[in-house]
Order: sequence, then structure tokens, then C-alpha cells
Amino acid sequence: MEGSIDIKRLPVHMGIILDGNGRWAQRRGRPRTDGHLEGLKTARKIVEAASRLGLRYLTLYVFSTENWKRAESEVSFILALVKRHLVAELDHYRKDRLRVRHAGDLAGLPADIASEIERACEETKGFDGMQVVLALNYGGRDEIVRAVRRLGDGLVSEAALGACLDNPDVPDPDLIVRTAGEFRTSNFLLWEAAYAEYYISDALWPDWTEDDLKKAIAAYGVRERRFGAVHNE
Ligand code: IPE
Ligand code: IPE
Ligand code: MG
Repeated sequence: MEGSIDIKRLPVHMGIILDGNGRWAQRRGRPRTDGHLEGLKTARKIVEAASRLGLRYLTLYVFSTENWKRAESEVSFILALVKRHLVAELDHYRKDRLRVRHAGDLAGLPADIASEIERACEETKGFDGMQVVLALNYGGRDEIVRAVRRLGDGLVSEAALGACLDNPDVPDPDLIVRTAGEFRTSNFLLWEAAYAEYYISDALWPDWTEDDLKKAIAAYGVRERRFGAVHNE
């Protein structure tokens, strides 16, 4: 029991499609970038809360392979924000022994951001706390295509292809949350989410709280996961 929210079972791996930054700002008559700034504060808060609750893996969908279609100013703002965050927050990651990982096409990112991500991953790779996977320049289809290329002439099987994905040692997500009330995956973890439970939250990402996180996890905790089998009483 966590406060008044009853958590019966924790997901090992939770993914979040953090959405609604732009709408949050627009509703206040502010530029979309203000929403991203506020969204970063939420990300910090939720990472900390998820780690405290005992999650082992948290994947945050930060920037998709489709997000390059946005205005150049917004794209560069988001990427600069991520870079600044990685530089400034490394001590915090160290304190909680959080391990930073990356999913997505690193080669398609500006070199300074790619090297900051690599540095954060390298400096935290020995930590045994929650693993925070930053899905940045990530697309599920793109990941599968890159996996097929890595597989090369190898024998094709689910296990062989799965082993060529970006983070093959990270277990499939148990729970995928999307904020801002949208019912779509937007190309998130297409392969890995085969049996994920989905939870849609109406709150915009900058408004998301630890209580919203607990509600999502509590809802997951009472789902019956069958994986295609029949559960007899
Ligand atoms: C999520 O918020 C952050 C990213 C996709 C980078 P949005 O920027 O998509 O916010 P909305 O959907 O326009 O409100
Ligand atoms: C999904 O959000 C991508 C991320 C959260 C990074 P979008 O806001 O880009 O998705 P669509 O365009 O509404 O599907
Ligand atoms: Mg959006």
C-alpha cells in the first residue's frame, strides 16, 4: 500500500510516451519550448519516484525519428535541453546509482549530443540502480531495420533478431503509459511491446505527478496478463 493508492504488483520495465508538453504551454499562451522545460522537471521527478518505488527499468520516449518534422528551433531546443540535463544531472544519477542507457539511432544525432549520451552511459554503466533508457532519435521501425542490418546473413528467428535490437538485455516493457490522452504508440517499442499493458493518462506530461505514476502502476497491478494462454481457475 502506497499512501491511498494500492499497488499490488510492480512492472519490472515501464515505458512512458511523455506527451502534451506543447499543449501545456499553448494553454498558457506560452511558447511550446516552455512546455519542454516544464516537461524536463516532470521527467526528473518521475525518474526519482519510479526508482524509489523499485522499478528496475524506465524507458522515456523523449524524441522520435518523426519529431525531426517539427520546426528546427523546437528540435534544437529539445536536443540542447537533453544535453544540458545529461551534463548537469550526472551527479544525481550517481547518487541514486541510476544507469543511463540509450535507445535509438545515435549516429543520426548531432555529434555533441551523441557523445554526451555515450559519456553518461559509460559513466553509469556499473550502477546497479534503476536503468533509465532514453529513447532519443528512436523509432520502433527504425530499430527493427537497424536490427535486421546487424543480423546480416544470420539465421532469422525471433531470438536472433531480438538479440540485435538496441538494448537486448533490457526485458520487454510490462507497462506502457502515454500521457495527454492520445491512444496511439507513435512508433514506440514496436517489437518489445508485443505483450505490454497500455495505460492512457489524460494529464499532460508537465502536469504529471507521482500520484499519476502510482495510479498507472496500480492499474497495471490488477491486469490479468495471459500472454495468449488460457488461465483456468
Ligand atoms: C511531448 O510533447 C514531447 C515530445 C514529443 C518531444 P509534445 O511536444 O508532443 O506536446 P504536444 O503533443 O504538442 O502537446
Ligand atoms: C510521441 O509523441 C513521441 C514522443 C513522445 C517522443 P508525438 O507528439 O511526437 O506523437 P504524435 O505526433 O502525436 O503521434
Ligand atoms: Mg505530442
